[in-house]
Amino acid sequence: MKAETIFSQIRYEESRDDAPPGFPSLPEVPGGRYTDPAFFALEVERVFRPAWHLAGHVADLPEPRSYFIFDKLLGKPILVVRDREGEVRAFYNTCRHRGAPIVKDAAGRCNLLRCQYHSWAYDFDGRLLSVPDAHDFPGLDKADRGLIQLRCETFEGLIFVNEDPKAIPLVEWLGPLAEEWRTADLRALVPDYRWSRVIGCNWKCALDAFQEVYHIKTLHPTTVGAALDHHATAISLLPNGHSRMCVRYAHGDCETRPDGGWSDRSVYEQTSVAHTMWPALNVPWRIGSGKFMMFWPRGVDQCEVQIIGVGMPWGEGPLPAARQAGNDQFDSILMEDVENLEAIQASLESGAFTGMILGYQERRLYWSHEQIDRAIGIDRLEKDLRVEQLLSPLVESPA
Ligand code: FES
Repeated sequence: MKAETIFSQIRYEESRDDAPPGFPSLPEVPGGRYTDPAFFALEVERVFRPAWHLAGHVADLPEPRSYFIFDKLLGKPILVVRDREGEVRAFYNTCRHRGAPIVKDAAGRCNLLRCQYHSWAYDFDGRLLSVPDAHDFPGLDKADRGLIQLRCETFEGLIFVNEDPKAIPLVEWLGPLAEEWRTADLRALVPDYRWSRVIGCNWKCALDAFQEVYHIKTLHPTTVGAALDHHATAISLLPNGHSRMCVRYAHGDCETRPDGGWSDRSVYEQTSVAHTMWPALNVPWRIGSGKFMMFWPRGVDQCEVQIIGVGMPWGEGPLPAARQAGNDQFDSILMEDVENLEAIQASLESGAFTGMILGYQERRLYWSHEQIDRAIGIDRLEKDLRVEQLLSPLVESPA
């Protein structure tokens, strides 16, 4: 993150009274992208299945032989484990005998991954170790019946999975986000907040609410609308559909620090930073904390919003009161957004809605849509469901 560039963009943004020269008039985003079951099916197969997804935090696997079930990915039952050597791995939680789930508890620790149906037992590296009455399975080669493994990589304490064996490495996929998350001291942070809720709206409808601050004066007038100056916003479109938004705190400034230096960390200190990791992870930051917000599709008109918050370790016992108060305030702001979403989806499906018009301040949404079409394959889409590819020339160049 180039602090000087970001701060100078913020100064430009708060001074302008017209759209920046050369910014294109964005065509209508077809409404069917939020309501059409066939479009949703393409998103599932070509956007979500081959993408990197946050499954949890290494703190969820405190010791070798710990496990948890990750069940947010479109019904796929995934078992995430820490093996005997400490490596984090992911498997389908599907026994190679008759397909039963191997473990049923949401999380735990055990000596062997023993299927709860007929006791086939697997080691934590996925090898099938034992089969009761093995003599009754003539020709069975245990080496051929290990658990099916998924791509699984950790980054600064976060565990990501990907169903695509050919996916590019996670750090390559993250691009500039990797360094920016390191700057936020992600490695030092531990989970201090969990939240999830099923909402009756398309997954993009929910994600959209967190990719712009055009709405904050209206929807959050006494909270973020008062705390942030939405006109003082630097947005960067990043490769792979990712993006960044830095909003200056109201009554703040973006000046050089007394030591005269620009530092990347100063962006986190002086602005509210949020990243989108395409397709469906949004991360608002404060100094010493981040909220990893995931928007899991459950149907064309239903999604689950799941949040894992991380903050500085606080030792034993309950979260300190000031930290808990911060999380409670986040909850109340979140609900202001969430309470709006089901009514928006109903409106989108009313028949009165043809498509949405996005402005310059909402260009992160348009960029996400463009990447969806690139991932699906533009030629696979009906013409009336595509978005025009326009914003690639605006992608931030590498530092
Ligand atoms: Fe797992 Fe039979 S289905 S042991």
